[in-house]
Amino acid sequence: MNLTVSPVLKDLFGDSFLIGGALNNAQIAGQDPTALEILTRQFNAISPENALKWDAIHPEPARFDFALADRYVALGQALGAFVVGHVLVWHQQTPGWVFEGEAGAALNRDTLLARMRSHIQTVVGRYRGKIHGWDVVNEALEDDGTWRQSPWYVTLGEEYVAHAFEFAREADPDAQLYYNDYNLWKPAKRDAAARLVTSLRSRGIRVGAVGEQGHWLLDDPPADVIEAMIVTFEKLGLKTVITELDVDPLPRPEWLDGADVSKHVEFKTALDPYAKGLPDAVQRQLAKRYADVFRVFVKHRRALGRVTFWGVTDADTWLNDWPVHGRTNHALLWDREGQPKPSFDAVVETARRASAAP
Ligand code: XIL
Repeated sequence: MNLTVSPVLKDLFGDSFLIGGALNNAQIAGQDPTALEILTRQFNAISPENALKWDAIHPEPARFDFALADRYVALGQALGAFVVGHVLVWHQQTPGWVFEGEAGAALNRDTLLARMRSHIQTVVGRYRGKIHGWDVVNEALEDDGTWRQSPWYVTLGEEYVAHAFEFAREADPDAQLYYNDYNLWKPAKRDAAARLVTSLRSRGIRVGAVGEQGHWLLDDPPADVIEAMIVTFEKLGLKTVITELDVDPLPRPEWLDGADVSKHVEFKTALDPYAKGLPDAVQRQLAKRYADVFRVFVKHRRALGRVTFWGVTDADTWLNDWPVHGRTNHALLWDREGQPKPSFDAVVETARRASAAP
């Protein structure tokens, strides 16, 4: 295919919101020319799928490994893209030592807080002015709106979120700082996130936006529920960013509707129905779903800062391996060969209709 004749998402949405893609480690290392070509042409924002997570960048107490993260940031600069940092404080992909006490003792508040501070100061400080927005805290809430009992919460209490934002702000006064989570469209979780951010702001902490990951299914959450989430945050004067968008068309147990990376389901052929390709009917359903969610995005463009896809092509969507390992997923806008899918056309068409509307 000649990519130069295909429409360009970042131009179509240019006046509305940033449009981004997440890069895996091979892409950051320059080993995936197809994905990089799509990225360069189509997107004006990038996120790192794994390269800036604590276990990648700070594997041991006194050892940071910035090699891949430096390449990621340099790539973003070369592209002139908005560069996102993901993620500072999370309970996943964080090495065990972070949550262990000193020399056999139980973990205490001061130790954990000091580790959080030095991690954030070092990482955010290194990329000050180069990483433009940070997911500061990821997944602090449960779907019912209660606090997730992570080691951060159990050791430091609710205050851990405020501390993380303060440390990040000290290290980069100008970066956008986000609270990020999945299933924020669920009213109880949405309202808990709204209360959390309101309480941070009442203490003078600047929150740039709320990040909804956006790992969604073919029919869930309904478009009007996504809309209600964006409007809820907008009424508080808060922007929403969609930070990890994909639409999973594969079968999924009903209890697994979020993106909890610790949840797994054993592989069965019945759970991998489209290994030989997506049937036309499902391809059309996926395209319609993308059109529906982008219709909501353009309608509320003033309340949206960015929409980032969690991957570039279907060859490397994380949904090939989560929640079931080794499946063939079809969640993104480009197929395994890097060809645009009907879903890409549907997103383009939605943008064009919106700009033609009075
Ligand atoms: C995922 C990555 O895409 C995978 O490569 C990795 O194995 C697990 O994490 N929510 C998040 C992301 O905030 O960091 C997760 O990324 C997907 C769910």
